[in-house]
Amino acid sequence: MSGARYRIEVMHGVNLDQLGNRNPLLYGTLTLAELEQRVEQEASALQLSTGFFHTNHEGAFDEHLHSLRGGEADAILINAGSWTHYAWAIRDALEIAGLPALEIHLSDVQNREPWRRFSVFGELCFATISGLGPDGYGRALAQLREHLDRRDT
Ligand code: DQA
Repeated sequence: MSGARYRIEVMHGVNLDQLGNRNPLLYGTLTLAELEQRVEQEASALQLSTGFFHTNHEGAFDEHLHSLRGGEADAILINAGSWTHYAWAIRDALEIAGLPALEIHLSDVQNREPWRRFSVFGELCFATISGLGPDGYGRALAQLREHLDRRDT
C-alpha cells in the first residue's frame, strides 16, 4: 500500500488455517483468509501495510521469524496457536527477529484450560490481546501503530 508508515508482519501458527472449521464459540466464524482481509483493511486505515504468513510447521515459523531480521517489517503481530504455550524455539526465534511484537489470541486464553494461560514468548511482547475475537486484531493494529509512533518521536 502506498503511503503506509510502517509494515506489520501478521503471523499465524498451527491450526489457524482451520478457522471456520473450529469451535465458533471460541474462534468465531471467519476463515483465515477472511480474517486477513479484514486485518489488511483495518491496517490500511491506520497507514500500516501488512505481510501475512501462516504455517503448520514450527521450523518454517522459526525460519520466517529469522527472515524478518532483514528489515522487511517494522513489527510483528503474532498468533502462534498452541505453540504459544510450549514451543520454546519460537521464543528464541522471536528474540532473534528483534522487532516489537504484540501477542494476540482470538479466544480468552486466560479463562480456558490452565495450560493455555502461559506464553513462552509473552515476556518479549510489549502487549497481549486475547478474547476479543477478530475485533482484537483492530485493537492490536492501533496499539502497534501507537507503539511505533512513540518509538520514533
Ligand atoms: C489461540 C489460542 C490457543 O490456545 C489455541 O491453541 C489456538 C488459538 C487463539 O487465537 O485463541 O490454536 O491462539
